[in-house]
Amino acid sequence: MKQSQITLWCHEIIRSQAAEGGFYIDATMGKGNDTLFLCGIAGEAGSVLAFDIQRQALLYTEDLLKSYGMEQRARLILDGHEHMGNYAKDETADVICFNFGYLPGGDHKIATCADTSIAAVEKGLSILKHGGMMSLCIYSGGDTGFEEKEVILSYLRKLPSKKFTVIVNEYWNRENHPPVPAFIFKA
Ligand SMILES: C[S@@+](CC[C@H](N)C(=O)[O-])C[C@H]1O[C@@H](n2cnc3c(N)ncnc32)[C@H](O)[C@@H]1O
Repeated sequence: MKQSQITLWCHEIIRSQAAEGGFYIDATMGKGNDTLFLCGIAGEAGSVLAFDIQRQALLYTEDLLKSYGMEQRARLILDGHEHMGNYAKDETADVICFNFGYLPGGDHKIATCADTSIAAVEKGLSILKHGGMMSLCIYSGGDTGFEEKEVILSYLRKLPSKKFTVIVNEYWNRENHPPVPAFIFKA
């Protein structure tokens, strides 16, 4: 059952909410799998903005999108997601996707961190349209540690319930600090 992988689980929830032709943001491009997925949902009429702080991530993602003929649908930005407000206006995005942590196969020390992640989530919530959603894959343990997960989860718990619905899933019987899929729906 491959949908039990966190990224595929998040994709299924996004797919259930998103329509073709929208505006999507991948806040953590990495190897481009989420960018490619969002480009697929966006279709010919939609668009995707994707961020990473590592040039290597842009190169991986560009290659991946080209191999699927989808490079026209995405704008790849070498900048931190905490600056996404410089590239997108408030209340314009249908979906914003975060997959925290480090670039798989890359330097584990170059990873998302609590301060900038919270700044990005907060700005992302302004950029989301009413009716839009944010998906977050949150990791912990090993080189990642626990601070980022704890800071993000406590931030999510304090979001006002009249404006946002937050759903946090849990791998109930998985050992060794399983990842946490979380979703924010903007009223
Ligand atoms: C787990 S990977 C993302 C995986 C990716 N979505 C995929 O489909 O392959 C996390 C990425 O976040 C990037 N990152 C770290 N800090 C960032 C920041 N402030 N803004 C944007 N990206 C950041 C890392 O460079 C890394 O490539």
